[in-house]
Amino acid sequence: MKTYKIAVLKGDGIGPDVVNCAVDVLKAAAEKYHFQIEFTEGLIGGIAIDEKNMPLPEETITLCQTSDAVLLGAVGGPKWDNQSVRPEAGLLGIRKALGLFANLRPAIIYDALKQASPLKSDIIGDNLDILVVRELTGGIYFGKKEKGDDYAMDTMKYTIPEVRRIAKVGFEAAMIRDKRLTSVDKANVLESSRLWRRIVNEVAINYPEVTLNHMYVDNAAMQLVKDPHQFDVIVTTNMFGDILSDEAAMITGSIGMLPSASLAEGKMGLYEPVHGSAPDIAGKDIANPIATILSVAMMLKYSLDEQSAASAIEDAVNKVLEEGYRTSDIARKGETTVGTLEMGRLIKENL
Ligand code: IPM
Ligand code: MG
Repeated sequence: MKTYKIAVLKGDGIGPDVVNCAVDVLKAAAEKYHFQIEFTEGLIGGIAIDEKNMPLPEETITLCQTSDAVLLGAVGGPKWDNQSVRPEAGLLGIRKALGLFANLRPAIIYDALKQASPLKSDIIGDNLDILVVRELTGGIYFGKKEKGDDYAMDTMKYTIPEVRRIAKVGFEAAMIRDKRLTSVDKANVLESSRLWRRIVNEVAINYPEVTLNHMYVDNAAMQLVKDPHQFDVIVTTNMFGDILSDEAAMITGSIGMLPSASLAEGKMGLYEPVHGSAPDIAGKDIANPIATILSVAMMLKYSLDEQSAASAIEDAVNKVLEEGYRTSDIARKGETTVGTLEMGRLIKENL
């Protein structure tokens, strides 16, 4: 029987609530599809600061490097907001340490939840399905930083290989979808964006079947709410992808539903919900575990090559939603809600 090693980094806030559910679902999937999973927990974020005085202890990096994939909850919270080292540094650190340069953030609207979208129903239409491919280990997040008495500075830098490899991920994703790719930049102002655009155009030569267009980020932010169906795959920089993926997520009605995959060259990946640590509802059994459960499905798909198990989890989630079960973040007025654990249990049962 195949055995996979999974590093489990629950992190802060609702991280443990949602990760526990997702681990349970993964165990059930393993049993059903005949593989084994070895889970090992590691510390990251605020809890790592509390226990080890640093947001990303060395042993966490080693654990991840010797695993097949990483499942992460969330990091951060007001408790650590005014400290010199922040929990977020743990997340940025693990992305860099594992070389997770490609961040896939699907924004899919579930039929059962259409009314939760803040957009009008004629704009939402049917089967909205956008994939944001965000560059994750370069750009302004990782450029040179400086701070003086009366100034502070961040640098946005991209190298040609960095742009080329993320552009390829964008085109490859488009090839197995609707073959439309929008590259988002700010090439009317930024030198790094002009490089970005040039390299994306070069890579495009290898993908003649994909329709490529370029869009400035300000316009893209507007077009996403004006006519989201014009997008299939969006490929963009670290910073612009951070912003646009939140926007795309909200269009679907609930950020509590959306998974993500952060991929390195090869099979290694880190899987986490798009939402944050929501410290105000931590430990109350009300957080929505679906984003993390769907992140496990992405893990099965991209890192473990267990396609049937991945689809089975996605189907189970759909089924539970169609049966009308809702956590409070996706419930309409008057609908009865279930807690985190119950939602996890229902999905497991359907599996
Ligand atoms: C995200 C988050 C992180 C980011 C923060 C927590 C550092 O917003 O994953 O989108 O900006 O990348
Ligand atoms: Mg973000």
